[in-house]
Amino acid sequence: MPERDYDHPDVVICPDGPLLLRNATSVQDADGVVHDVRRPVVALCRCEKSSRLPWCDGTHKVIPRG
Ligand code: FES
Repeated sequence: MPERDYDHPDVVICPDGPLLLRNATSVQDADGVVHDVRRPVVALCRCEKSSRLPWCDGTHKVIPRG
């Protein structure tokens, strides 16, 4: 069983923000489109307001909380 590095987990849920993925190689969006990942860490939008879906563009920071 591989050792886990909890200081650098594979997925981090940011409160009121994106999901951070570490060492992902691809992401399939809700339409089934597969996006290649070329960076060690990427941020996936959870608010659905990003202009660069599926990636977070920071728009969540200006959305009023419910
Ligand atoms: S979570 Fe950042 S723009 Fe949606």
